[in-house]
Amino acid sequence: MVISRVKGFYQLSVDERVDLITKGIGLTEDEINVLSNGMTLDLADAMVENVIGQIGIPLGVAANFKINGKDVFIPMATEEPSVIAVASNAARAAYDLGGIHTATSGTIMRGQIQVLDICDPYAARARVFENKEEIIEQCNLKDPTLVSLGGGVKDIEVHLVNTVKETMLVIHLIVDTKDAMGANAVNTMAESVSPLIEKITRGRVVLRIITNLADKRVVRARGVFSSEMLGGEEIVKNIVSAFEFADADPYRAATHNKGVMNGITSVVLATGNDTRAVEAGAHAYASRTGRYRSLTTWEVNNEGNLVGTLEVPMAVGIIGGATKTHPVAQVALKIMGVKTAEELAGMIAAVGLVENVASLRALSAEGIQTGHMRLHAKNLAVMAGAKGDLIEKVVQKAVEERDFRYDRILEITNSL
Ligand code: MEV
Repeated sequence: MVISRVKGFYQLSVDERVDLITKGIGLTEDEINVLSNGMTLDLADAMVENVIGQIGIPLGVAANFKINGKDVFIPMATEEPSVIAVASNAARAAYDLGGIHTATSGTIMRGQIQVLDICDPYAARARVFENKEEIIEQCNLKDPTLVSLGGGVKDIEVHLVNTVKETMLVIHLIVDTKDAMGANAVNTMAESVSPLIEKITRGRVVLRIITNLADKRVVRARGVFSSEMLGGEEIVKNIVSAFEFADADPYRAATHNKGVMNGITSVVLATGNDTRAVEAGAHAYASRTGRYRSLTTWEVNNEGNLVGTLEVPMAVGIIGGATKTHPVAQVALKIMGVKTAEELAGMIAAVGLVENVASLRALSAEGIQTGHMRLHAKNLAVMAGAKGDLIEKVVQKAVEERDFRYDRILEITNSL
């Protein structure tokens, strides 16, 4: 069994951390090697075009997460200092109060088929519904494996979209993609059924593509955070008003939600999922009321503790694409112990919620620069040649002096 609540996890060496995770999860020698070596160039070459190398992004794990009653270490890939540290820190404030709870609405994606040049859009819409069974059957013939797993097209919707020039007919294929993110399955179905759609509508089909506004694949996360551990009543009050600010003002909401996405994107990337798809979906969903708003809510419960919720589309999979081929993504999924895409979606949302409270806590109290500069100083100390214990000594001195210029860090490094 994994115990994610580890005191001073951040103070361990890389080897000690890997050792601790390995003992809890049972990683093999090969998997441990993958963590430091990443993917081979041959694999990179097979994954995308015109390959000349690969870029390494640090992979950390956030500690102190309890999600739906289970302790879990969360792999996070990010180039931004503080993101993993603050998530681990804020997760502690929820741990003893039950951790984070999540629920998912299922694994339904939408594919859009755009039909133009229709003279009778209302009648064409009706004809599409009359032929619904045949359309669904033809789509499902394209993916018997998905259908055998209980997935496939479940329904269709027909939207009339008024544009500057005409009324377009836009058919939505409502597809259960199960443990796949679903873009390949949905796009293949949309393309293959188009001749039938043209016959039925007597229009001209052009675009046939999944929508990233995955509003039928929504995940919800909820957590209670100890007021005492966050720093007390005043800070909790400030966090709530920070949420109210974001919910009312799109300029603030963009940055507020960026903080949420710091957590979400790190896990999406670590598990080989499509970061852009999830980001596009999140921001479109944040605008669903007609104004761009906060993805989270924050309020105070009867005990004076802070309660947060997050609701966001989460189109992620655990089979197919880089989730399957990228060796590090495979290890990341193993560390999380997820068996379904819905479980993964829940964990990602939990991190988004915690990351948001971590940012708001820092912003409501000391500001984010102290933590940032500490990590920045660590990077500079390493650049200046500091190794082992010396790194922390250099950082400490830079923090005391509040001087984070590279020249000064170099001087400190050489003097210690
Ligand atoms: C920085 O990457 C993220 C924050 O700006 C988020 C926020 O302002 O809520 C700290």
